[in-house]
Amino acid sequence: MKTIPDFQKWKADGKPITMVTCYDAATAKIVNATSVDSILIGDSCAMVVHGFDSTVHATVEMIAAHTAAVRRGAPDKVIVADLPFLSNRKGIDHAIESVDVLMKAGANAVKLERRKGNIQLIEHIVDSGVPVMGHLGLTPQSVNEFGGFKMQGKSSAAARALIEDAQMLEQAGCFSVVLECIPGDVAAQVTESINIPTIGIGCGPDVSGQVLVINDLLGMDATFQPRFARKYENLSERIASAVDRYCADVESVAFPAEGEYTSRLAKLSR
Ligand code: KIV
Repeated sequence: MKTIPDFQKWKADGKPITMVTCYDAATAKIVNATSVDSILIGDSCAMVVHGFDSTVHATVEMIAAHTAAVRRGAPDKVIVADLPFLSNRKGIDHAIESVDVLMKAGANAVKLERRKGNIQLIEHIVDSGVPVMGHLGLTPQSVNEFGGFKMQGKSSAAARALIEDAQMLEQAGCFSVVLECIPGDVAAQVTESINIPTIGIGCGPDVSGQVLVINDLLGMDATFQPRFARKYENLSERIASAVDRYCADVESVAFPAEGEYTSRLAKLSR
């Protein structure tokens, strides 16, 4: 069974760390049987599962419900749960309450998007025995401030700020940092500037590991294909085809067929 301290070991050994998001027990059961190192219950669930246009709509209750479902399906995996929008901006007591709910739902750690002023809170969470994963770059909870889902860290000043932020997150006790949508050379510099592993998405290969949203990896949405999210399957087509074949079979009375149900007459004749 893999654990949070393994992240440091994987970085030291040069083993690329693998992480996927997951939101439900059925998918988690499949993922549990794979070689993936860890699962993220991302606040991306607000978008890919609940259909909102940003992660601003995620709540602690929403993340906790998905975390509990994934834990039931994936008892063997390291699970990191996202602290959703503003859940860590209402004072330390409120933030710790949110962390408590997510940990009791089955998380091994929480992830928190870096904002000015949250270093003290991260220290407090870490000092309370809860591992924290930081998140830098395109932090989607700040989408309204960024004016859209745009690449970050493009100027040298912004790149320097990312390095400083990563170092502050390490000093505060984070066990790893997600880097989202920053240029590959900046991600490489951030990764070199800290001892804890970086997990990249849309940042190129020079990081300690990669994370993908499972719906993107599986091709669940034919209308969404970000450049950085390689599609390993085309499930939207395959699911639509399966449902259409089912409808055709029902309409032609080819389903259900013999053997797919118990006839009442057979029971009565016994
Ligand atoms: O919410 C999420 O899925 C994430 C990943 C994209 C890193 O934060």
